[in-house]
This record gives sequence, C-alpha cells and structure tokens, in this order.
Amino acid sequence: MDQSEAPLLDALHDHHLSHRYGFTPPGHRQGRGVDERVLRVLGRDPFRSDVLANGGLDDRRSRGGYLKRAEDLMAEAVGAEVAWFSTCGSSLSVKAAMMAVAGGDGSLLLSRDSHKSVVAGLIFSGVVPRWITPRWDAERHLSHPPSPEQVEEAWQRYPDAAGALVVSPSPYGTCADLERIAEICHARGKPLIVDEAWGAHLPFHDDLPTWAMNAGADVCVVSVHKMGAGFEQGSVFHLQGDLVDQDRLSACADLLMTTSPNVLVYTAIDGWRRQMVQHGHELMGAALELADRTRRDIEQQIDGIEVLDDELLGVQASHDLDRLQIMMDVSATGTSGYQAGDWLREYCQVDMGMTDHRRILATMSFADGADTAGRLLHALSLWRKAAADFERPPRVELPTPAELELETVASPRDAFFGPVEKVPAEQAAGRISAEQLTPYPPGIPAVVPGELINEAVLDYLRTGVEAGMNVPDAADPRLRTVRVTA
Ligand SMILES: Cc1ncc(COP(=O)(O)O)c(C=O)c1O
Repeated sequence: MDQSEAPLLDALHDHHLSHRYGFTPPGHRQGRGVDERVLRVLGRDPFRSDVLANGGLDDRRSRGGYLKRAEDLMAEAVGAEVAWFSTCGSSLSVKAAMMAVAGGDGSLLLSRDSHKSVVAGLIFSGVVPRWITPRWDAERHLSHPPSPEQVEEAWQRYPDAAGALVVSPSPYGTCADLERIAEICHARGKPLIVDEAWGAHLPFHDDLPTWAMNAGADVCVVSVHKMGAGFEQGSVFHLQGDLVDQDRLSACADLLMTTSPNVLVYTAIDGWRRQMVQHGHELMGAALELADRTRRDIEQQIDGIEVLDDELLGVQASHDLDRLQIMMDVSATGTSGYQAGDWLREYCQVDMGMTDHRRILATMSFADGADTAGRLLHALSLWRKAAADFERPPRVELPTPAELELETVASPRDAFFGPVEKVPAEQAAGRISAEQLTPYPPGIPAVVPGELINEAVLDYLRTGVEAGMNVPDAADPRLRTVRVTA
C-alpha cells in the first residue's frame, strides 16, 4: 500500500473544499451556529472539521472507503492483519476484545494490575475474572506485569479460561515478556489480548520495548492519544492470527461504539500513522535520546530524586522498560509525590503524568524537545528548594502484597448490580465490595466489585486519601462510606 496516503485526511480536505452542506448532525453546521464566546476559546477550525462520518465525509454507504483504507494502512504499518479505529479510547477497545474472546459465559485470565476499564468490561459483560497475580516489589510498593511463569500457573489453575489479557507497558512503562506469554497461551490454543494503551509508539523504533503484534499477541489495543499524536479518545485495536473471530471482534466493538464517531479523532489517527511510517524512527530515536539525557540530568542535578531505571528490571521485576516514562522516587526528600505534583502544578504550571505517596512520573513524548525537558528540570529544581519547607506528609499505611490480594467471592457483575448498601468505612472490612475503588492515576483498582474488603486495603486507601490520593470512582471519594453488597 502507499503509506504516503492519508485517505481520511484527504477526504476531509476535499470536504472543506467542496462547499458541501448537510441537513444532518452536527447541528452547529461547521461552526455557523456556535456562540462567539465558544469560538473565541475553541476557534472555528475544530467545528469546520467536525462533520458527519457517513452521509458527510463519506457517503451514507461508505462507498469512498476512506475509513477502511486508513485502517488497512494502519494494519500494514504496524504489522497487524486487521486494524480498527475507535473514538472511545482504549476503554472501549479493551472491552470489545474481552467480549469477543470470552463473552457469553466465559472467563479470562487477567493480570490484577489491569486498568479500571477492564473491570468495567467484566461488569458489563459478565465475563468471570481469573486473576493473575502481578509481581510485587514490596520494598518500593510497586507492581510489575506478570511473568510467563505466573501466566502458566494461572492456566494450570484455570485451563477453561477463554484467553488471557495482560497490560504491557504498564502506565509506568514497565513491560511483560509478551513473546513467552504468547507462546504459553498458544500452546493451549488460547488467544492473548494485550492492553497496550501506553504503547502506540512501540512499532516505530527498535529501541522501544517489543510491540505486541511482533511478540505474537492475537489482539492488542493502543491509545493513540497517550504516546502518539491523536486527539484524546483516539484508539486502535489490532488483530492477527485465527484464534479470535474477526467478525465477532468487529461486532463487539460495534455494540459498544458510538454511532457518531468524531472525524477529528479519526483523521488525527490517520495522519499519525503516516507521520510515523515516514519519520517515526527518527522522531522516536530523538525522543529516546532526550529522555536518557533528561534522566541523567535529573539524577545528577536534583538531590533526593532517584530516577527509576534498572531497579524496575530483572527476574523479580519487569522484562523491559519504556524509558520515555521517567519515574522518579522522591521519598528521600521526606515529602510525597502528591505534594510534589500539586506544587509543580501550582507554582510552575507543570503537570505530572502520575503522582503517588513517593513518586512522580514524567511521560516524555516524541513532541518534547530540549526546551520542554529544560522546563521540567528547572521546575524540579525549584520544587526541590521549596520542598525543604514542606510539612511532612501524612503517613500512608501500605499493605503487604499478600494483603493487597483480595479474595474474589462474587462476580464483579453480580456484586455491582445486586442489592447494595452503604456502610461506614470502619464497618466495611469483611464485606463484599459493590464498587471499584481506584487510585487515579494510574487507574489500577485497589478494590474490584465482588472482592472481600480487608482492613489493610481500607487503611491504605483512607490514609492515601488523607495524603492526597484521588479515588474518583468511589461513591464517596473521601471514603467515609463504602458501597458493599447487601
Ligand atoms: C493500561 C490502560 N488501559 C486502558 C486505558 C484506557 O485508555 P483510554 O483512556 O484511551 O480509554 C488506560 C488509560 O489510562 C490505561 O492506563
């Protein structure tokens, strides 16, 4: 295929030139009806390009084939057999993959460090989770993606599961050994789904961790908006091999998908693919060099920050690391990552990708340059001086890895939709949770509906909230009460 083409972008360009007018949604009529005060902030261009996908950009029967061609170009560019674009984030794509593999009354092996969208998929679909324990670094209080041995062990316990789903890279950039995990799944004739929401850039440089399709995964899901240049919500899911029914996967996505996809989201994905095919190697190579330099500069110039690197790799840790994710441990300063993140936002107008009780994460992108890396370094040096006067952060009571492993006693779907009651948090230990409780970001639920809540996890979340943790999906985000099954 001709990878210099961008069929969706070209179709939108033609639409701009054609003076086409639709007596159709969107009702703003390419900005004509939009309030001036809105236009002053958003500009006219987003509205000009916000056209109906079918019956606007393409005809009502998609006879131009722009979307299909853009998806085929994407599949070819990244070495998948089929690719689909989605405008509802990886949150939709991952649910579609779960339903395609295990929908009906199936079960899935799932790493317990899965994102909350995976748990949402369990609640919607009724798919039964067979949790794979992630690897735990108890000293740093950090989870790593599961090892091949842990996946094999899970298959031995649950041979009837329909497939396995692992997250790699994690939101911290740590990666699973996908090649071996795929081999283990395939030896049983079962598919591997990879939630690669953080890995849209991986196909485009050899020094980045292995791309799931190259590792042999059957389905993988990426968020183009995270590590690529898509608009928020732009996601692509990819398929290869014959272990997952292509038509069912596409139909599952159709069940969940909006009937009004945003053409801006689609066209940005199309343009990103062309950019990466033509310049990705050079852009990602430069980004990796910049990230390496920035890692060194931070460690050498800012005392009290430990930039995590080799500490995240090894037998008991991760298989590989995306070094664009710069995770910094600030615990030696006696202050917390929450305090650092809040201070950097308030006083330097710099936002961090993630903060927790002892870490901050800077996610570097191919769009960064020496100027933005310098800005990060300068902001961190200002924070370091200011941190000398910070109050000591409230203590977060950290559970042991064993305490974090809650027992699943009901299906997430039954626990979520069954009769529930709210109880004071002091009385929630020993009860079955009816809600997800997720420190966000990164969005890995500490408690999943159907799990038996224990004292240690409650203490962790409640002391975490006092220290600055955000648990937005709880009915009571202050966690004074918890929703449990009645
Ligand atoms: C591991 C993982 N999977 C899935 C998602 C959902 O992606 P999206 O925000 O594109 O819906 C996220 C979002 O942070 C994530 O971290």
